[in-house]
Amino acid sequence: MAKEIKTIGVLTSGGDAPGMNAAIRAVVRKGIANGVQVKGIKKGYQGLLNEEIIDLQKKNVSDIIQRGGTILGTARCAEFRTLEGQQLGAEICRKHGIDGIVVIGGDGSYKGAQALSKQGINTIGIPGTIDLDIACTEYTIGFDTAINTAMDAIDKVRDTSSSHERCSIIEVMGRDAGYIALWCGVANGAEDILLPEKYDYNEQTIINNIINNRKRGKTHHIIINAEGIGHSTSMARRIEAATGIETRATILGYMQRGGNPTCKDRFYASIMGAYAADILCQGKTNRVVGYQHGEFLDFDIDEALAMKKTISEYQYEVSRTLSM
Ligand code: ADP
Ligand code: F6P
Repeated sequence: MAKEIKTIGVLTSGGDAPGMNAAIRAVVRKGIANGVQVKGIKKGYQGLLNEEIIDLQKKNVSDIIQRGGTILGTARCAEFRTLEGQQLGAEICRKHGIDGIVVIGGDGSYKGAQALSKQGINTIGIPGTIDLDIACTEYTIGFDTAINTAMDAIDKVRDTSSSHERCSIIEVMGRDAGYIALWCGVANGAEDILLPEKYDYNEQTIINNIINNRKRGKTHHIIINAEGIGHSTSMARRIEAATGIETRATILGYMQRGGNPTCKDRFYASIMGAYAADILCQGKTNRVVGYQHGEFLDFDIDEALAMKKTISEYQYEVSRTLSM
């Protein structure tokens, strides 16, 4: 029989993402509406091990839905990767009367949730990452805000690139996944889009593109480069030397992880937070919330972690056709 849930916790873990606050707010308010107490665990699994645990009432989450970052703070915690760390985490939960936890984060954070669940603490994951690289869901909290932030910045770089007839390499986030680069590459009309999943490291192709475009009268050449490929500054130097065209690198960096969440991120994060609180209160464990084909749904964490996600071949092919 499922254990009775009286108190639930919520934490944010791994890289922060705009919209995490909306999810925290929803977990708290839906949890309270379901008749349970809610506790906030600060700084991810590190804060759990340090017992940085606070009571959360409805009023504690007012005025946060519009804010970027996470009011609970986030961290990476090496100790939680060990069995001892996980056992201690579960013990601390029991000590504080926490029957279950909503974990907002990426794949790594899900592994922590999976481990806690094995230690008898119910866990539900919510996808929180700007990278969109979680296989069981078409939506992750923060991606929409990040691509809009990056898109605006790239538009600005493009203005000055055109004025100076320069080539610009703009590096966007995504260590292993090229979704931000793909979306911005298409949305900003980039001439070249370099994705970690696809790039063949043949710079000569890019150089030829730049030279041909210049011959055809194009005044700028925008290359969107994903962080996973990186080295934008040295790439710019090599391209300038090979083409004779002034080339500059702009690394957008952490600005993409901050800022007020878009309406989409606030809405989806709110629904996912509420959904997670609901299934946790029903006694479910070792599940993650996802969004597919217009529906919010949940999956077993083990199955979710085993799923693979790849860049759509069709979308990639279209991005290449449109950039010509
Ligand atoms: P993300 O959740 O964004 O993928 P990380 O991969 O950095 O970010 O993971 C966040 C945290 O989740 C880690 O710092 C660690 O505390 C925990 N974690 C990651 N992998 C594991 C694992 N295999 N077992 C237990 N905890 C893990
Ligand atoms: O959260 C995802 C992400 O922004 C990746 O795109 C990036 O590679 C990574 O986090 C950087 O994380 P850190 O905060 O450890 O520098």
